[in-house]
Amino acid sequence: MFNKKPLAILMKETQTEGGLKRTLTANNLISLGIGAIIGAGIFTLTGTAAAQHAGPAVVLSFILAGVACAFAGLCYSEFASMIPIAGSAYTYAYATMGEFIAWIIGWDLILEYLFGASTVAVSWSGYMVSFLKDFGISIPASIAQAPYNYDSTTGVFTATGAVINFPAIFIVAIITTLLVVGISESAKFNNIIVVVKVAVILLFIGFGLFYINKDNLIPFIPASEGPGAFGFDGIVRGAGIIFFAYIGFDAVSTAAQEAKNPQKDMPRGILGSLIICTIIYILVGLVMTGMVNYKDLNVPDPVAVAVNAGGESLFWLRFPIKIGAIAGLSSVILVMLMGQPRIFYSMSRDGLLPKFFGKVHPKFQTPYITTILTGFFAMLMAGFAPINLLGELVSIGTLLAFVIVCGGILVLRYTNPDIPRPFKTPLFPVVPILGILVCLYLMQGLPWHTWERLLIWMALGIIIYFAYSRKHSLLRNPEKTNE
Ligand code: ALA
Repeated sequence: MFNKKPLAILMKETQTEGGLKRTLTANNLISLGIGAIIGAGIFTLTGTAAAQHAGPAVVLSFILAGVACAFAGLCYSEFASMIPIAGSAYTYAYATMGEFIAWIIGWDLILEYLFGASTVAVSWSGYMVSFLKDFGISIPASIAQAPYNYDSTTGVFTATGAVINFPAIFIVAIITTLLVVGISESAKFNNIIVVVKVAVILLFIGFGLFYINKDNLIPFIPASEGPGAFGFDGIVRGAGIIFFAYIGFDAVSTAAQEAKNPQKDMPRGILGSLIICTIIYILVGLVMTGMVNYKDLNVPDPVAVAVNAGGESLFWLRFPIKIGAIAGLSSVILVMLMGQPRIFYSMSRDGLLPKFFGKVHPKFQTPYITTILTGFFAMLMAGFAPINLLGELVSIGTLLAFVIVCGGILVLRYTNPDIPRPFKTPLFPVVPILGILVCLYLMQGLPWHTWERLLIWMALGIIIYFAYSRKHSLLRNPEKTNE
């Protein structure tokens, strides 16, 4: 159960040709990261965090959450440059903490990628419906919403009267098709979208700066109104929510096997996208709360509300903002739906999932079976589950993954001190230890119901491990082969 996959085997696998195509450059990887990061978090959650928890100090929440992700990002970079094969945290855990923990993290990553894609698809549906409405096309609410609402404080579900969230299913279907056709084409599509969404956000920052009313920024840290509501506690709670906005930089590591020069370019991709997004987020937070009083920001489209506050002279910016949001959310879905099949691919290659999961399409050279399977489940979830239920599960699952990755860096420096590390986490062991502590701190702040679901999900994963994966593991059963 605690068998580790020898690094030598892992390294050999990286050199094996005939699998996935190596087409991605450092810039593609940074773009992939930004594509995965900027999405529902900045376009929707910034408003909630400012209005209910931090006020203008949401800027500090962004810095705090950014620091937590920076610790994890540094650890991811060390791993990704050392073990540059597809599979992300799953692969790293297999090499350092053994098969069982690897299975646990692989299973946990489904919460981040598959559930994450579904969450963002629901947000995409909201923006799309509102965008079409501006053109007089109205989609009936009965086919643009999940059948249930969810109150995350009480854990109670209430019927919405709707049947299905059709636009959310639609976007997942389109992107899944694109991913089956090929990574290189998808990377080009991603680059275009990233340019559009970053351009729109820069326009917002550039023009918005001139509309800042200093009175809105005073007091910068509103006085505390209870636990999690403003004051220092509010900044921390805000950081917990804003954390969702940073999720995605680690998706870069799932494309390691398709990178031209993974040793150098993985850290560039991960840290580069993280730094760019942190700067953008801080500026957006400042401009947004400077343009509008934070109390007015508890809306699904806070960026648009801020633009409205700029009056008629800024009216023109509303249209590009909505386009940018729709494009931005699409690219987040794309990267997440691209990451998930690649994790399944690695797990299948190790025998922990059935062989057919690892099939690569003869013409497109993409892991098409897992891509279609991922798309199918993402469609089900996006079509029928409420967004906040999904979002909280994504956060807790991702934080758990970060804890294991930081733990892995600690373990490996002691157990395998001599492996070449093209990129080393600075200030060892401070960075990984702080990474673990900060992520656990953010996890404990999430509601108990979320913890329950995490435990149920993990229990299910453990059952599958003992019922199937343990028996079929290639590492435990060397006489088997996955050819
Ligand atoms: N970081 C991604 C987003 O904000 C998940 O949508």
